Amino acid sequence: MLMISRIALIGAITLAFCHADAAGAQGSSVQASQSAPHESAPQQPWMNRSLDPDTRADLMIHEMTLDEKIQLVHGVGWGVLRAGAPVPPADNGGAGFVPGIPRLNLPDINLADSAVGVRMAALQSRYATLLPSVLGMSASWDPDAAFLYGSVIGRELRAQGYNMSIGGGVDLIREPRNGRNFEYSSEDPILAGTMVGQLARGVQSNHIMGDIKHYVLNDQETGRNFLDAVLDPRSLRETDLLAFQIAITSAQPAGVMCSYNRVNGDYACENAYTLNQVLKHDWGFKGFVLSDWGGTHSTVKAALAGLDMDQPGDDGYFSEPLKQAVLDGQVSQARLDDMAHRIVRSMFSSGVVDEPPERSVVDPFRGRDDAQKIEEESAVLLQNGGGILPLDPAKIRSIAIIGGHADVGVLSGGGSAQVDAPGGNAIGPNPGPSAWGEPVYFPSSPLRYIRELAAPGVGIAYDAGTDPAQAAKAAAAAQVAIVFVTQWMSEGQDAATLSLPDDQDALIAAVAAANTNTIVVLETGGPVSMTWAKDVKAILESWYPGIGGGQAIANILFGRVNPSGKLPVTFAASESDLPHPQVTGLAEWLAHRVEAADRNRPRTRPQPFTVDYNVEGMAVGYRWFQEKNKQPLFPFGFGLSYTRFAYSNLKVDPGAKSVSFDLSNTGAQAGDEIAEVYVTLPASAAEPFRKLAAWKRVSLAAGAMQTVEIPIDPLYLSIFSTADDGWSRPAGDFLIEVGGSSTDLPLHQILRLAAR
Ligand code: BGC
Repeated sequence: MLMISRIALIGAITLAFCHADAAGAQGSSVQASQSAPHESAPQQPWMNRSLDPDTRADLMIHEMTLDEKIQLVHGVGWGVLRAGAPVPPADNGGAGFVPGIPRLNLPDINLADSAVGVRMAALQSRYATLLPSVLGMSASWDPDAAFLYGSVIGRELRAQGYNMSIGGGVDLIREPRNGRNFEYSSEDPILAGTMVGQLARGVQSNHIMGDIKHYVLNDQETGRNFLDAVLDPRSLRETDLLAFQIAITSAQPAGVMCSYNRVNGDYACENAYTLNQVLKHDWGFKGFVLSDWGGTHSTVKAALAGLDMDQPGDDGYFSEPLKQAVLDGQVSQARLDDMAHRIVRSMFSSGVVDEPPERSVVDPFRGRDDAQKIEEESAVLLQNGGGILPLDPAKIRSIAIIGGHADVGVLSGGGSAQVDAPGGNAIGPNPGPSAWGEPVYFPSSPLRYIRELAAPGVGIAYDAGTDPAQAAKAAAAAQVAIVFVTQWMSEGQDAATLSLPDDQDALIAAVAAANTNTIVVLETGGPVSMTWAKDVKAILESWYPGIGGGQAIANILFGRVNPSGKLPVTFAASESDLPHPQVTGLAEWLAHRVEAADRNRPRTRPQPFTVDYNVEGMAVGYRWFQEKNKQPLFPFGFGLSYTRFAYSNLKVDPGAKSVSFDLSNTGAQAGDEIAEVYVTLPASAAEPFRKLAAWKRVSLAAGAMQTVEIPIDPLYLSIFSTADDGWSRPAGDFLIEVGGSSTDLPLHQILRLAAR
């Protein structure tokens, strides 16, 4: 009875998805879509759970025919992603499908995009939780929040019958206008690798195969399919590759997705250096490399360079041509066996063979609570002039809420990371699954929750913000004005500038001129510039805040939650301060698109181009600002609290294994502080900037003090030598600095260390 009413309730929530195929929403414990287990299972030696995954994989592969191995190393096409493409019966409705081998008891692989929640649920009448953006989650600097984030994704994938996640974006934020920054974690490799590694561990804790993507240097969307990302090998190892190294070695994911772009000349999916040498040899990656969708460009070159699975597979590179290449000896039998081994051993080690997903109904309330909790740790208070926040319900008589569709919901990011909103897009007009290119709002209304937290009788007016003069009028009539501004971002396109789109800068300026108590709430994919920052009292960056976003924002504005997030990325004041003042290739790309839209002109291919990351090299993000002595608008690692913290008494272990210091909450309320440790290497390292080396999130009651000890990983005191092809610690003076942001480091000590 209880189960029926729960299903009915969730059915009501998902009803508006409209699609008739309710397979995914039927009662709990339905065997997920995969080939039925073969009867002779116990006799098959690889089904013995006490054997290790590699032995089990070898035993099974020994029995496989050539055709079965070939079948395993590619998908079956675009499926539901492309109208008209075949969808096999056992395909669960995700981005990818690889048929299993029933006679060997090898299940199908059903892959679902799940960067910030499971994609395309509505198409199957299912529900999925929208989490805050990955960038938002990373602003919590809380590895436990990252694990929780991944475990929500893993739990819901499992409930929906998927056994592989495709998410785990860890490309560095070199380009703050990159349309996919909301899927990525940070400009700092250690923060990014740590958080995304934890996320992938959370996914895999549900017996789901995890994935880390897009390997590597897919740091902008403009021209992603044909650009050549160029970076010297040492910088590559110490920045973008380091983020992947940390995430991959900590999570041991089943899959690593190679990216669309070229890396120093070769396509990422046929790049022997990044795949064979670095990923598989140096890091000992045991899982499989799968191509981004359509990212394979060859058969023999790709197979020999380390690609193990071609997705979605319609290009045919890894079907008949690969079989022929094996028969011809161009690709060895051993290499094909290695490809199959990597896939099968990952299926055993993740548990998808022994503990296959069982369909159940996703619990939207649990997901919402988890999403809200993560957002409450992730929103960053950037400015709080005159201590206007938290709002005191006893003192506020009237509030004007302006813009950002705050009356109905919060914004989400687009592309393959798009999660379907329950009931359809909260701003309408289509109630069904979301369409590519459509900014989707989720029904978590900040206005509603602000109303709940304000005192009864307070006048709260909502103005859509479409006409600045009218918005200014509404603001002038209220004691406090809260402006919600949005920046929609998506895969496949970058922002042309750092400014908010749609004249929202002018909207804020008009409101701020009308009301000195103006508070701005940002819902953005990444950093934005703010010409109006000095004219408003408070600024709260909520990122894409997820399905619990409306309530989390209201809780922070009214002090039910003390903000604690810190920026995982630098906010520049203007494009001219960036290493690349324009997104490389954007102007040409836009011109090409205009040309291509003209049906009277002959079709041309866009010209390949180079993105020269040697401009900044290792000096990504905050390091660039320090090296060039530029002032950011808001620095990396920065974020305010409603309380204050003081640092004292730094002690550095003589072997640099750890630091300790005293952290005090000197304010009047409990709060969390993210204490950050930076290291500047000796001059001989030729890295003239501080680098994040460690951090800890610490909860302190008002007036409390704690001695905080933080271990330092020796790798983070080392540099990569291309001559020795390895890491080593240089000799000399290391400057250790500790504090609350990359530019506010009250504690410091110099430590002389020998080379190691
Ligand atoms: C994206 C990947 C995604 C894949 C499948 C590609 O366009 O770059 O991140 O996993 O599509 O949807």
